[in-house]
Amino acid sequence: MIENKNILIGITGGIAAYKACELIRMFKKNNANVKVVVTPNAFEFVTELTLETLSQNQVFLDQFDTNEKKPEHIALCDWADVFVIAPASANTLGKIANGICDNLLTSLACAFQKQIFAAPAMNTGMYENKAVQKNIETLKQSGVKIIEPDTGFLACGTDGKGRLADINEIYNTIKNYFDKKQILKGKKILITAGGTKENIDPVRYIGNYSSGKMGTAIADAAYELGADVTLIKTFPLKRNYKTIDVKTALEMYESVQKEFLSSDYKKDILFMVAAVADYRPELSADLKIKKEENSELNIKLVKNPDILSEICKQKDKSQQVIGFCAESNDVLDYAKTKIQKKGCDYLIANDISKQDTGFSSDYNEVFVLDKKLNITKIDKDTKENIAAKIMEFLYGKN
Ligand code: C5P
Repeated sequence: MIENKNILIGITGGIAAYKACELIRMFKKNNANVKVVVTPNAFEFVTELTLETLSQNQVFLDQFDTNEKKPEHIALCDWADVFVIAPASANTLGKIANGICDNLLTSLACAFQKQIFAAPAMNTGMYENKAVQKNIETLKQSGVKIIEPDTGFLACGTDGKGRLADINEIYNTIKNYFDKKQILKGKKILITAGGTKENIDPVRYIGNYSSGKMGTAIADAAYELGADVTLIKTFPLKRNYKTIDVKTALEMYESVQKEFLSSDYKKDILFMVAAVADYRPELSADLKIKKEENSELNIKLVKNPDILSEICKQKDKSQQVIGFCAESNDVLDYAKTKIQKKGCDYLIANDISKQDTGFSSDYNEVFVLDKKLNITKIDKDTKENIAAKIMEFLYGKN
């Protein structure tokens, strides 16, 4: 429920700043409390009086203006349940992504430990700029929820992506955040994500193209729904929940056994999203293999354990296991055989032959199979939304 929630709205200096006025009104109309923090440039587009009148609160700009005993950015951090930066300029996004705190808004973003939402708005060229995209990616990685800009007519006279997301969409995103029922509260959930790396020597490995995005999205979704989450991963990522780093399939197997099965750590649910290498080099050289000494190189590969199958054999009846599979053809035929062979409770299958979904993409389209081979399709969407829909499908009826 959004009623009585404390919403801190950050407004940066862009033409879309005027739309933030409507956003403040929507929050106030729905009985949320609003305080507004602006960057100095924001006042080029909206006046202090407008923002003060709409929010019915003092507008915050000056980092060193301490009304209370605490510095302003700490007092506002304590007060706010959520921080919504809309519109978020390329400049401010870049500063936050890089930990720069040169005004009150950026200092707040740096210190804020609850959920930050940022709705970028800028000219298409700026939005598509590689540095800006990298900054947005960094923010996503550190847990900031980006409310994607729309495509359409921009104030600068061009058509393209960069227009502030619709105000209703921004409002609904925040409302949904508060409405989300903690349906997984009390559940311990283990997720694996990313592709394993099988060592050839200290500098080379056999790997695959898995990005770990789907597994991360599943872990984030479970965390938001109140689960006690542990993520075993093969790539760098910082989160507020427990994460464990592994490299190889054998390390992942050992970690899954410990975290899912051992009495000290036992979990209720395992999502085996990782792309585990089926084979590894039989021997991994201790020293770098030199090309000068080998005119050809034969690497004998031996089979890795199938973690999913092994865990399904060893688990308790009360524990649930969800497998994933990526297929490039006859997806459903392979998936039906696979769920029976592996013995998991559900199998989530996706078609990696499609250009715009699957491996490395931000989008996915999946089929959820249960043990009776009932199939439910979840249409193409961002991996974050697909993860939320998978959770809703599996646990929403509880
Ligand atoms: O057989 P396939 O690799 O298509 O199955 C994919 C599913 O099996 C995924 O859930 C993956 O995490 C898991 N898997 C595994 N161990 C392997 C290979 C795959 O747990 N060695």
